[in-house]
Amino acid sequence: MNKLYVISGVTGMTGNELVHQILEKKADESHIIGFDNFYASSLETIENCLSDKRLEFYEYDINNAEQMSRIEDRVNEIKEGFEETVYINCAAVVHTEHFYHVHETFETNVLGMKSFLEQAIRAGAKKYINCSTSEVYSMNSWNENGGVKESDYITLADAEHSQRTSYAVGKLLTEFFMKDAVESGQILGCSIRFANVYSKNERYPKHIIPFIINSFREDGRVVLLENSRKNKRTFLHNYDSCSAVLALAGTESALDGSIYNVATDEEISIIDLAKLCAEKMGIREPVITFSGYRESDPERRLLSTEKIRERTNWKPVMDLDRGLDECIESYLAD
Ligand SMILES: NC(=O)c1ccc[n+]([C@@H]2O[C@H](COP(=O)([O-])OP(=O)(O)OC[C@H]3O[C@@H](n4cnc5c(N)ncnc54)[C@H](O)[C@@H]3O)[C@@H](O)[C@H]2O)c1
Repeated sequence: MNKLYVISGVTGMTGNELVHQILEKKADESHIIGFDNFYASSLETIENCLSDKRLEFYEYDINNAEQMSRIEDRVNEIKEGFEETVYINCAAVVHTEHFYHVHETFETNVLGMKSFLEQAIRAGAKKYINCSTSEVYSMNSWNENGGVKESDYITLADAEHSQRTSYAVGKLLTEFFMKDAVESGQILGCSIRFANVYSKNERYPKHIIPFIINSFREDGRVVLLENSRKNKRTFLHNYDSCSAVLALAGTESALDGSIYNVATDEEISIIDLAKLCAEKMGIREPVITFSGYRESDPERRLLSTEKIRERTNWKPVMDLDRGLDECIESYLAD
């Protein structure tokens, strides 16, 4: 089926992989209108696709009303040639250090998501995929029964503890906008709670994997937060975050306005992650030291993905071993 995709944050980790996976099907006449303001990415991630006529890229900001109205005009101009229009909102202020910037995260993550959703509805789009985050689980990011579920209640750290949760609270609010739009019959859609996405194309060494690899590359040492002595995480390759988006976008019965966890269950402590990276980089005696402490950072983040697996055919295919090999090879080649 030929679809018109409208993707925000298209040069980011999930957005650029969406472009690759959609365009990979050569016989498919689907078309992508994508934009990004390069807040945390660059055109490099989709450079090899720019000559493909099925992709249109715009250097636009989701918060710029005039630029967004040009996107809407373009959608209206060409949408009749496609069987359905699917909006995918990947644009967001994502990195941990920005979680403390309340105004910025609110503007892009909440107001940007809301106006992009309103645009999708005005343009008569059939579907809207809202990228949310596992951060909304906050202090209840795991349980002893094999992972936290979408239907579990959450306990949020608030302004008494840390500004950090502003990112989670903003994303949580977008899930309500999504649900409301679907329940009022305006569009089909869902929210996806990803956990710790990584990519070999990531050039912003603030996420833990590129941070560790870049630190070791510079001088064979890495300084981790005190939290890392205990903290464990799972890591989701952007191939899998993207295939989850496409699996949900392709399963109408799943687009009921609800939430889907998307993660792996391959849990690793941050210290072991650092040791594994060092080993893979051939560093025999890595120097790992600790400095700084992050408030309201859950010790574990383990998600149940039963719901998406039951309702779609999605499952992660990239394990951490292979994903880290890819990242190391790509970062060291620079
Ligand atoms: N990376 C993770 O670990 C993670 C975890 C959970 C959820 N998510 C969510 O998944 C979605 C995709 O994130 P990602 O992993 O691809 O991260 P990413 O940072 O690689 O991608 C986000 C993209 O949005 C762009 N962007 C930011 N502000 C913008 C603006 N005002 N206008 C236009 N573009 C803008 C950035 O330049 C970037 O390319 C986001 O909604 C994010 O919150 C990511």
